[in-house]
Amino acid sequence: MKPSRLNACGEWVLDRFPLASLWKDHMTHYYAPKNFNFWYFFGSLALLVLVNQFITGILLTMNYKPDAKLAFDSVEYIMRDVSWGWLVRYMHSTGASAFFIVVYLHMFRGIMYGSFKQPRELIWIFGMLIFVALMAEAFMGYLLPWGQMSYWGAQVIISLFSAIPVIGDDLSLWLRGDYVVSDATLNRFFAFHVIAVPLVLVMLVFMHIVALHEVGSNNPDGIDIKKLKDKDGIPLDGIPFHPYYSVKDIAGVGVFLIFFATIIFYMPEMGGYFLEHANFIPADPMKTPEHIAPLWYFTPFYAILRAIPDKFAGVIGMGGAIVVLFLLPWLDRNPVRSIRYRGGIYKKALALFVISFIALGYLGTQPATPVMTNIARVFTAIYFGFFLLMPIYTRWEKTKPVPERVTMDLTLEEQFPAICEVFEEITEAASAPDDDGHQHAFRSVFFSRRPNPEGMRNVATRLAKKLKKSLD
Ligand code: HEM
Repeated sequence: MKPSRLNACGEWVLDRFPLASLWKDHMTHYYAPKNFNFWYFFGSLALLVLVNQFITGILLTMNYKPDAKLAFDSVEYIMRDVSWGWLVRYMHSTGASAFFIVVYLHMFRGIMYGSFKQPRELIWIFGMLIFVALMAEAFMGYLLPWGQMSYWGAQVIISLFSAIPVIGDDLSLWLRGDYVVSDATLNRFFAFHVIAVPLVLVMLVFMHIVALHEVGSNNPDGIDIKKLKDKDGIPLDGIPFHPYYSVKDIAGVGVFLIFFATIIFYMPEMGGYFLEHANFIPADPMKTPEHIAPLWYFTPFYAILRAIPDKFAGVIGMGGAIVVLFLLPWLDRNPVRSIRYRGGIYKKALALFVISFIALGYLGTQPATPVMTNIARVFTAIYFGFFLLMPIYTRWEKTKPVPERVTMDLTLEEQFPAICEVFEEITEAASAPDDDGHQHAFRSVFFSRRPNPEGMRNVATRLAKKLKKSLD
């Protein structure tokens, strides 16, 4: 096609669809804080994994059979006979675990930098709804290979609903579509996994990003960059998302793909954590596996369920562990967002929370011996303590002053003008104008016959203070 024709074609579209203004508003003229760090990779990585799950999921559906008699064999057929089927399947199964790794790190970033606080509560709520939808998606997807763990995992989780008083038994029967997990359950889980939940996920991710672009991103300093703008209304501490962050995110994608490919090609089962060994045996309704455990991303919540002695209270505890996360914006009473300027109490509480989450995750993979159960009880108490005591300890907390502008880790070269400024300021008194009448303060410290000792001392003290501050 001739370039003029192509242009005319482009204009025809642009006259009818706001592509140019969308690109401008959300990419080239969307100003993001210039101090994004490592933790800001995970939003774009979550998008990447979402796309991976869609593409590989659609390809798997072309050869998968949602039938209790055929499902297990159809997965084996994909692995052995379909061209590149093994790769597509491993990309999908590894993608599920990668999704949770990325999302857990993304959520942790939000908690660390207070990104859930005013005015970003809705971004957080949409994020939490995504998390719940993601758990439903993963749970239903895991039934589809119709292996032993698929079958018995679903059996255990659905039967939990029967612990709910009055409606419990009817509810679990309604969810299963049968008195036990069966072909009817497999068919409905397939429908939900392949179309219903993905649609909800896409809608929620769209709303998550619309809400984000309405209020703008938070940043590692937790400062509102919209407060300080230049004469054109551009935030002084903002840079256009494209090309700066689009390029940065692509670098993150490259590193992520190295890890992702290494797992797919060398350890797709990840020692039974990404694909459980028992799931390579076809589902047998007459034979319960010795030890039933969900995949790693559910185990912190599973450990909470088992730590509480009463079945119904356990279900409430497990659900409560997710509900408290929704409430975070209202539990944290401290106005300071970023952990960088928060007090020791919050830092310690967050560290304890992370330890308890990881420990519960480990305990959930292990058989529930009395010792393990008692340890899980302690960590469950810490998990809930972090949230429920938050309105109290976040009020006591002594915070540090929050800077006006974002802080950045500058290279020595970038810091040089500021260092020169400090020198000039301090040595001003000692400097003499040169022949053309210019003041060369910097030179005066180093090259004058009579250096200003007071100035030198001040420079040293101020630099030491700066160093200490950056180390703090
Ligand atoms: C499919 C899953 C998800 C996708 C694709 C996604 C995508 C994104 C993207 C692209 C951003 C902007 C870039 C960034 O800040 O990293 C973002 C920001 C954010 N997300 Fe998510 N997200 C997902 C899940 C979640 C979940 C589960 C939560 C929390 C419950 C959450 C909470 C947030 C918050 C609070 C921000 C604002 C962060 C800030 O400005 O500092 N997201 N998300």
